[in-house]
Amino acid sequence: MSDLPAGAEALPNVLAEGFETTRRAPPGVLVVFGASGDLTARKLLPALASLSRRRLLDPAFAVVGVARTPLDDESFREQMSAAGAPGDTGWGETVSKSRYITGDYADAATFASLKDALDKLDTDLGRTGNRTYYLATVPSMFEKVADGLGAAGLNRAGPGGGAVRIVIEKPFGHDLASARALDAGLHCTFDEEQIYRIDHYMGKETVQNVLALRFANAIFEPVWNRRYIDHVQITVAESLGVEKRGGFYERAGALRDIVQNHVMQVLSLTLMEPPSSIEAQGIRDEKVKALRSVVVPTPAQVVSEVVRAQYDSGWSEGVSVPAYRQEPDVDPRSNTETYVAAKLSVDNWRWAGVPIYVRTGKRLPKRLTEVALQFQRVPHLVFAVAESQELRPNALVLRIQPDEGVSLRFGAKVPGQAFQVRDVLMDMSYGSSFLEEAPEAYERLLLDAMVGDPTLFIRSDEVDLAWQICEPILHAWQDRPVPLAGYAAGSWGPRQADQLIQRDGRQWRAP
Ligand code: BG6
Repeated sequence: MSDLPAGAEALPNVLAEGFETTRRAPPGVLVVFGASGDLTARKLLPALASLSRRRLLDPAFAVVGVARTPLDDESFREQMSAAGAPGDTGWGETVSKSRYITGDYADAATFASLKDALDKLDTDLGRTGNRTYYLATVPSMFEKVADGLGAAGLNRAGPGGGAVRIVIEKPFGHDLASARALDAGLHCTFDEEQIYRIDHYMGKETVQNVLALRFANAIFEPVWNRRYIDHVQITVAESLGVEKRGGFYERAGALRDIVQNHVMQVLSLTLMEPPSSIEAQGIRDEKVKALRSVVVPTPAQVVSEVVRAQYDSGWSEGVSVPAYRQEPDVDPRSNTETYVAAKLSVDNWRWAGVPIYVRTGKRLPKRLTEVALQFQRVPHLVFAVAESQELRPNALVLRIQPDEGVSLRFGAKVPGQAFQVRDVLMDMSYGSSFLEEAPEAYERLLLDAMVGDPTLFIRSDEVDLAWQICEPILHAWQDRPVPLAGYAAGSWGPRQADQLIQRDGRQWRAP
């Protein structure tokens, strides 16, 4: 999808453990800031080890971990080794070349040590100069790290050339102003082409499949509009509570944590116009156009069309669980929302008049993300009412996770003498349709960043628009006493969310 960086090799359909691919990470260094943290241990190192197992890392590739926690090279290498598969000699070599630097992100000495380490690695690895900086730190450090890299001259390619990129984890800003300030700060040291903003939902195979389903098939696109679709439902449900992240979640809440990023990404892929090609610019331009068409809610609309709620104690997967306000690091009088449901509308020719209902919450009955397109009823039902009670309008459901797949609901005749009809499901499941195991989201995104393919990363104007849609909701919640509803842990959310959709004569899906 894009130019390969220095030394990157295009492989002619290499089959690595059953995975067909045409590209792999180029020689060079991945520098992980926040290397002693949770994200590095849980996601980044296992993703790198998996890339190695699939032979998608170049032999001349190394990792440099940077963090404030004092560690030495050996301990970091042990942590890396533990993430790999036993007997993966390629990973063993990557581990043996890797380094760890202890330092404060505000201290120029940290970046001087990093520069020395990178210069040395460059010589050892064959002077490729390819560098990817991954900021897995707390968000308040993003700009500091970028500044430190800039001050040390590490933001630009060295004399030998090579690609230099910076990957920024979410959340990108706390509101529109802070997102813009962060963007302006990053642009002081890095060009937009060098900045890769992550939303790990874009790395999910099934999120990318929204594009495949829509644009690789002739049958869906003609009906993908207001003439056939009654409404769209996007659900991001989690059964987990806030776990040990109470401190972070208190300042975020469900709107910032899930709606501003994951929901907006899935929504833009669902609503966008067909791009002229699968190239990064084409896709991102269309996503931006779609977001621009989403109607920014007025304060009055927030009151009537957005529900916020917080979980109470209840039962989750057979276990009694505490209320949000009793979770560790949560204020016992907290007003942070753990659930949001909203009715959005889109002002363009394709979607005018089609409500987009979105909902997300923690401590719901199960983990489930899906996009459901609910079609209109047939214009005239020829079957007797008594014979068609179990017939519902067609629905196309894109199951993002778990049980990844796509299902189409349609009416069929029940075998027998009568003419009874009811709906049935036609189901495609990833598990049984493909032999290939889907790469984990971080694996895909790490490889894309190192190869220099920005298609699945969030461009500056996308982040800005997503905030423009969500921020008025936050403001309305602050400015007016919008009630915070409650719901029992393990339920599908508050009664007010049901009323929101029932007012329009519709129902939430009960997946
Ligand atoms: C993260 C949120 O971005 O996404 C978490 O911060 C949430 O609160 C997680 O649990 C959900 O990701 P996934 O991939 O499990 O759906």
